[in-house]
Amino acid sequence: MKIAISGKGGVGKTTLSAMLSGVLALEDRRVIAIDADPDANLASALGVGDETQVVPLAEMHDMISERTGAADEPGGYFQLNPKVDDIPDEYALKIGNIRMLALGGVSQGGGGCICPATAIVKALLVHLIIGRDDILIMDMEAGLEHLGRATAQSMDALVVVVNPDRWSVQTAVRVRDLAGDLGMKKVFAVVNRLGIAGQDAGGEVQEKLEQIQTALGDVPLIGSLPMDPRLGEGALKIAPDGAIAPTEALTAHTGAIESIIAEVRSRV
Ligand SMILES: Nc1ncnc2c1ncn2[C@@H]1O[C@H](COP(=O)(O)OP(=O)(O)OP(=O)(O)O)[C@@H](O)[C@H]1O
Ligand SMILES: [Mg+2]
Repeated sequence: MKIAISGKGGVGKTTLSAMLSGVLALEDRRVIAIDADPDANLASALGVGDETQVVPLAEMHDMISERTGAADEPGGYFQLNPKVDDIPDEYALKIGNIRMLALGGVSQGGGGCICPATAIVKALLVHLIIGRDDILIMDMEAGLEHLGRATAQSMDALVVVVNPDRWSVQTAVRVRDLAGDLGMKKVFAVVNRLGIAGQDAGGEVQEKLEQIQTALGDVPLIGSLPMDPRLGEGALKIAPDGAIAPTEALTAHTGAIESIIAEVRSRV
């Protein structure tokens, strides 16, 4: 299953991507986590202390020219469908059974330049075949403008993160329209920062959920996460030997994350 995570700036896309990847990895699923935001911080949300450990694909010049046959000079011919199947194993940062890749400042196959780096990224997102029980999670920058049609259509689901405010919900509706134009059929929403962890707000949370669902129209709301300052610590702790363990925040919200995964699975 390939899931893209989108939404307005700052709503919690990276947090949700890391939590989803973390829960699945701790359940022994193979996860490919892709940071598609040029301003990358998924690695840090996954517990990687030193972000320089993740070399963005856009900067793997040797691999790009080897795979595409591109010479260094601009304007030459190059292979548009390079081999990508072994990229997660060969080039990703391994965090438990998460294979993490950052795209760097490369277009995800949308308009603009068709260059060797774009060809690799597009081939990776579109042609990478993942096992039945494996999962690809792509943390995107705000908006979908960077997403090419082929990439969009290769995703099984788009999860739009919203906060309990009018603006991010309006963005979600626009994202849904754009997703529709790109040919993505399955679009879901998750509310982040709804209520406060450990506090029972009574019927207020339920009421807010219903209001948000109404505002979202036909985009199904499939889960929610409360405000929880512990989420700033990210999803995973990585021991010196490379073993991964959940942070307190991940442990506290595993149930909510599992339920989001189950909802997506049952609907795609
Ligand atoms: N439920 C939450 N409770 C408390 N803090 C949160 C919660 N969700 C996210 N945060 C914090 O809010 C900040 C923004 O979250 P995050 O980076 O996940 O958003 P984003 O949508 O990926 O942002 P960007 O658009 O910049 O990529 C982070 O510091 C994160 O730790
Ligand atoms: Mg982010």
